[in-house]
Amino acid sequence: MEFYQVIKTRRSIRKYTSKEIDEDVLKRVLDAARIAPSGSNRQPWKFIIVRNIERKKTLAKLCHNQSFIAQAPVVIVACGKNIHYNRGEWMGDYSVIVDVAIAVDHLTLAARAEGLGTCWIGSFDNAEIKKYLEIPEDVNVVALTPLGYPEDPSEFTETSDRLPLDQVIFFEKWGKR
Ligand SMILES: Cc1cc2nc3c(=O)[nH]c(=O)nc-3n(C[C@H](O)[C@H](O)[C@H](O)COP(=O)(O)O)c2cc1C
Repeated sequence: MEFYQVIKTRRSIRKYTSKEIDEDVLKRVLDAARIAPSGSNRQPWKFIIVRNIERKKTLAKLCHNQSFIAQAPVVIVACGKNIHYNRGEWMGDYSVIVDVAIAVDHLTLAARAEGLGTCWIGSFDNAEIKKYLEIPEDVNVVALTPLGYPEDPSEFTETSDRLPLDQVIFFEKWGKR
């Protein structure tokens, strides 16, 4: 798929078929996350691949009962190891979130290129998911996403609900259009 077409038609998918994902397709999508950039190339991420139906259902509950998450054949839990990034100044405290978010964005775009749907999940109970998946103390969940084939592939429509460019761009300094 053409690069800009991938970006324009990546949409949040909340209905999935049960069709399994081939291992080589899954590997390509995960590899897109693996090669993402990160501060000082620290790569502070781990991705937990969940396929077990009971475990997916429990995760969906821990995402404030977003039951569609368990419908997808795979749920990915993106985690970040909490290392303070000195050179990041005030960004240091957030760097792990930035790093993992970039990797997850790579993943969602690669998924789209493969015809797979994702939905960034930011509403979840970090403490409970950590307990449930035995995630270490110094690691937090940054995002989850279901991964699977959309029930209705026509949902991959071009994004139209965004602010126009002239409302999000300033020239040279804040407020100058
Ligand atoms: C940080 C973040 C958190 C989000 N959390 C959720 C969520 O918990 N549940 C959900 O259904 N969608 C969630 N979304 C998806 C957004 O609602 C969606 O990206 C937005 O409405 C734009 O739609 P689109 O992804 O189809 O372009 C989240 C997206 C982001 C980037």
